[in-house]
Amino acid sequence: MRYIDVAHISEVEPGTCRSFEVEGECDVALCNVDGEILALQDTCPHAGGPLGEGTLEGNIVQCPWHGWAFDVRTGQCLKNPVPAWSVPCHPTRVENGIIQVAFPPEP
Ligand code: FES
Repeated sequence: MRYIDVAHISEVEPGTCRSFEVEGECDVALCNVDGEILALQDTCPHAGGPLGEGTLEGNIVQCPWHGWAFDVRTGQCLKNPVPAWSVPCHPTRVENGIIQVAFPPEP
């Protein structure tokens, strides 16, 4: 597992989420839940919507395409809480104001 610099902490305000490209290869959704940064795969397992462009309420992000909701702490889909519809989550840490995301994600 290695940590990759993804964004400055100021780019993800509390109560918001955003999509970020990582090393030109994949996207992650960073979510700020009351100051805690959580990261999950950006691609919605339903049809590929960008979860980081969705709406964050508490620790639930709603996909902008068809509204499926996911717990950003676990990746679990609230509509279909089965492993096949869960989103992989990445450990995160903040070093000198930089959000670092671990790859690969945790299962
Ligand atoms: S693509 Fe996310 S709910 Fe359909």
